[in-house]
Amino acid sequence: MNASLSTVPAFEHLSSIPLYVPGKPIQEVQRELGLTRIVKLASNENPWGPTEAVKARVAAVISGSEYEGLGLYPVSDGYYLRKRIAERKAVSLDRVILGNGSSEILEMVAKAAFLEGGSAVIPKHSFAIYGIATQTAGGRVIESKASATELDADDILRSVAADTRLVYLGHPNNPTGLRLERAAVERLVRSLREDIVLVVDQAYAEYEDPADYPDTASYLDERPNLLVLHTFSKIHALAAMRIGYGLGSKELMGFLERVRSPFNTNHLAQVAAEVAVQDVAFETYSRQKNTEARAAFLVEAGKHRCQLTGTGGNFVLMETAFPAADLFNELLQRGVIVRPMQAYELPNHIRITLGKPEEMRAFWNAAGPLLDGGC
Ligand SMILES: Cc1ncc(COP(=O)(O)O)c(C=O)c1O
Repeated sequence: MNASLSTVPAFEHLSSIPLYVPGKPIQEVQRELGLTRIVKLASNENPWGPTEAVKARVAAVISGSEYEGLGLYPVSDGYYLRKRIAERKAVSLDRVILGNGSSEILEMVAKAAFLEGGSAVIPKHSFAIYGIATQTAGGRVIESKASATELDADDILRSVAADTRLVYLGHPNNPTGLRLERAAVERLVRSLREDIVLVVDQAYAEYEDPADYPDTASYLDERPNLLVLHTFSKIHALAAMRIGYGLGSKELMGFLERVRSPFNTNHLAQVAAEVAVQDVAFETYSRQKNTEARAAFLVEAGKHRCQLTGTGGNFVLMETAFPAADLFNELLQRGVIVRPMQAYELPNHIRITLGKPEEMRAFWNAAGPLLDGGC
């Protein structure tokens, strides 16, 4: 039988769904281009960790003990990590759920919501997984208005349809680095129809100044249909471990529990995150380093008359007067991996993760001569 599987009813609805394209791994660039010195500034990882304490805890598990060798299943619901997260976030344990990365929780909530169809409102230029999770679960995407320089809470509210089940908001948003002012956050939380689940993805929230960041977790008691997501992949520097968490009402968590795969987070990830979530000093240090890297980047970008948008996250979004894919390819040849943004309908933007000073020097050494005529 030679028939294409794209016409098989089991799969045909998937053909039009975009594939997620991750940042290029270092090993792939080594393999493809034969380069040895490579700097990766493509996936918004934190170069300053993980800490020695996290590594020691993981090493202890690998060495094995009566209760936690690699041969044993992990605690399925991650009780001990959830307990630590609950303490840190001052919520009860039954309001915390874990995912294999926060991406998995984005998928869980979509799987729960779109069992019988429906739509999700997603601002333009949002993290790709919101749309992919919606569509692969059988939902329809309604794109609300947003640009590289503006997020619009009122347009999110206006875009809601009768069959809308979820609204996703990246806060701050990847790749634009934008977030809403507190008043707009409140409008959204309080005016959105009560039967719609508001999913606020706070993957980069820890990079914000805690004094003026409108953390939507503060509305959890007000809105039972609110899901606030965090990840250990960014400021906690555990991207390889694949672990994230969601905060919500006890009832909402109960529904997500029904679509969660048993043992969805592994034991090494759980213990690493247990140590990481308690380490406020490392978070503060990483935020400070990120602020310094952003300030230094702005100075260099100014020399080349390059425009940056947004201020959030551990990355910058830079506009180019020419297709950014060209710059991406030139940089790749020079051993610097960044992220072109065509897939986000931003063909003249590249996103650059803020790395260590030596990594940023490598970026400007490669990019500087290419941008001599301006961005
Ligand atoms: C906005 C946003 N949300 C979620 C994630 C996914 O994080 P995780 O590694 O926890 O799946 C990312 C990763 O880049 C992100 O940018």
